[in-house]
Amino acid sequence: MLKPSADREQVLHLLEHLGGVTEENVRQVSEQTGVPQADIWGTGLFYTLINKPGRRIRVCDGLSCQMAGCHELINQLESEGKRVERVSCLAQCDRAPATLDEDLELITYQGKPTGVTPDDADLPMNLAGEPDKSYAAFVKAQQMGVDAVLQQIELAGLQGRGGAGFPAHFKWSSVIGQQETERYVVCNADEGEPGTFKDREILLRQPHKMIEGLAIAAWTVGSNDIYIYIRGEFTNEIRALRTAIEEAAAKIKPIQIHVALGHGAYICGEETALIESLEGKRGMPRLKPPYPTEKGFRNKPTLMHNVETACCVPSIIERGGTWFKDQGRTEAGSKLYCVSGNVNQPGVYELPLGVNLDELVDAAGGYEGTPKAFSPGGASSGFLPMSFRELPLDYKNLAEVGSMLGSSGLVVLNDTVDIPAAVQSQLIFFERESCGQCAPCRIGTRYLRRQLDDFIGEKQLVALRHSDDVAWEMEEGSICGLGMVAAKPLESAMEYFPEAFEDKAN
Ligand SMILES: Cc1cc2nc3c(=O)[nH]c(=O)nc-3n(C[C@H](O)[C@H](O)[C@H](O)COP(=O)(O)O)c2cc1C
Ligand code: SF4
Repeated sequence: MLKPSADREQVLHLLEHLGGVTEENVRQVSEQTGVPQADIWGTGLFYTLINKPGRRIRVCDGLSCQMAGCHELINQLESEGKRVERVSCLAQCDRAPATLDEDLELITYQGKPTGVTPDDADLPMNLAGEPDKSYAAFVKAQQMGVDAVLQQIELAGLQGRGGAGFPAHFKWSSVIGQQETERYVVCNADEGEPGTFKDREILLRQPHKMIEGLAIAAWTVGSNDIYIYIRGEFTNEIRALRTAIEEAAAKIKPIQIHVALGHGAYICGEETALIESLEGKRGMPRLKPPYPTEKGFRNKPTLMHNVETACCVPSIIERGGTWFKDQGRTEAGSKLYCVSGNVNQPGVYELPLGVNLDELVDAAGGYEGTPKAFSPGGASSGFLPMSFRELPLDYKNLAEVGSMLGSSGLVVLNDTVDIPAAVQSQLIFFERESCGQCAPCRIGTRYLRRQLDDFIGEKQLVALRHSDDVAWEMEEGSICGLGMVAAKPLESAMEYFPEAFEDKAN
């Protein structure tokens, strides 16, 4: 007999296994888990991969995909009689317009070449390199001992690569400092921020580095259980991950790795929403504090890291924290930058943290056309004009200009792109992905999108007259980062591209 909490944790898995939310499936899952049917309806309907039965093609309508013609593609597929669902970012922006077939397998339409940084053994993550399956860094970490490992992580200056850039060693120390001895390590592989697809490449090319980093973290904080929460649309990546876990199992004993699939909700990338989802509930962010390091998964101390953060750890142990730190320019370490939009070779490029836009785009084959704007770190970072092309793309410098590095999903827009239409794509994303829990975000995301629709339709600036007030309410009154930054695309575009918001009424 499963523990009550474990029963609850099975709800989403069972619903998916049965083929999604239907009356019969909800009844069966309720029977099996003891969770009331009403609760299962509410939970299941939250997730786009299981909220309706039936096979369909999924086409991403995020910014890079919009620029690459997703709307035309959708029209074409529908005219061929295909059932199509518009979805938020599929983390395939380099292959825009990103499309999944009915079995969640990727269909590639784009003709452009995609790229990663060429093999170079001196790069901490070295995506193109031969995978190292020795787990030598894991062995070395155990020989060094907990304090020495922590010291190297601190010396490395490793900042979390999931978006916030929070120093990793603080989180590790916080988990170690808890009284409770049942502890968990969770890997956030739910990548879904428009413009971002770096974790995908790690999962495909260097899953062992990530697993080894997680194992080192688990051993250091005293946990025997790692949960990897990977987005359910990552069909190829899930395969690669499962193979790597099988290969790693004997080497990281007694640590065990559990794979949990996401079910199609962007908000589950937020750490506490992810934990709710792992526990079989709707992915609604929790109020913090308490932080996951104190009360996380199953209310136990939990160390959560992004895929890329974990992937940095083995090289820190092997070559030392100072070596890793020196790989950066303005901040510590190398960084996986995702580049898409109007560049010649979209892809994932590992460069010193703090390179500027021109250097990054150079790695991505150069600009396509005349660049006009860029979004440096996903939808949450807004838009910047080319006058910022020399700004170091790091956590501090971008925050100082009111933007953010976030998940380093950079999208370049050339002078053929209509700025209000680009903003509209981002606002639709936030409105669709808001979990609806708090009013400023739930109402604000919809209100801003409607205001912008009106402006685009009528070209009257009066349509946007309340946008500043609404943005303030959202920033101040939202529980999680989604609501706090959802107005950023509109605010930044109005600030830096006023000519795109001219009143054409007269
Ligand atoms: C709306 C929202 C979405 C997020 N999505 C992701 C995500 O897809 N992947 C990720 O690693 N972190 C994401 N984060 C950040 C996580 O909450 C968390 O900070 C991160 O996983 C911690 O790992 P790190 O310390 O290695 O960065 C998101 C945060 C917010 C507010
Ligand atoms: S800010 Fe938005 S996404 Fe975050 S908890 Fe509130 S309603 Fe949900």
